[in-house]
Amino acid sequence: MSALDAIFKRVTVRHYEDKPVEFSKLVTLARAAQKAPTGGNTPYRRVMIIDDPDTIAMIKKIAPGYLSNAPAAILIYTDLEVAEKGLGRLGRDVCSLIDSGAAAANISIAAIELGLATCFTKSYSEVGMKKVLDIPDNCRTDLLVQVGYPHPGRPRSIKKKPEGNIIYHNRHGVSIND
Ligand SMILES: Cc1cc2nc3c(=O)[nH]c(=O)nc-3n(C[C@H](O)[C@H](O)[C@H](O)COP(=O)(O)O)c2cc1C
Repeated sequence: MSALDAIFKRVTVRHYEDKPVEFSKLVTLARAAQKAPTGGNTPYRRVMIIDDPDTIAMIKKIAPGYLSNAPAAILIYTDLEVAEKGLGRLGRDVCSLIDSGAAAANISIAAIELGLATCFTKSYSEVGMKKVLDIPDNCRTDLLVQVGYPHPGRPRSIKKKPEGNIIYHNRHGVSIND
């Protein structure tokens, strides 16, 4: 599968098959996340594979956005001390968040190649997430990506809004869609 095929095939999935994801595939996704760029090549990004059923159950209790039955998830988070030391406030408050999004995007595209699907998740308690996963105070959790095998009968639940497809050309307001 080409990268373009994977990008255009990706959709958010919230219904998964009732089977675990192989650890080797989760490691591949985590490595894909760490291949994403980081501002100033500052090593502030942290990636955690979560596939323990009891831990997933605990996360679901503090995450209203974890609507699915996904059996695994990957957390992208930032060591704020490393980010601030390397790039100052810009690194801590801006670049690291952008980089976490890039890492999550890598996961979502690589997942397609592996026959998997994903759902970005930001609706959760920061305090609760850090407590469940033993994440220290100097870190900020940025995004959780649910991962699983998509249920073949229920591919997606939300249709993309047309305004989400606008592309401008050279000037704001000049759309290639017209
Ligand atoms: C930063 C961010 C946070 C999101 N948080 C959640 C979430 O907590 N729960 C959820 O079910 N979907 C979440 N989503 C998924 C969006 O709802 C989804 O991307 C959007 O509906 C567009 O659908 P598509 O990804 O299939 O194009 C999130 C997406 C992004 C980018």
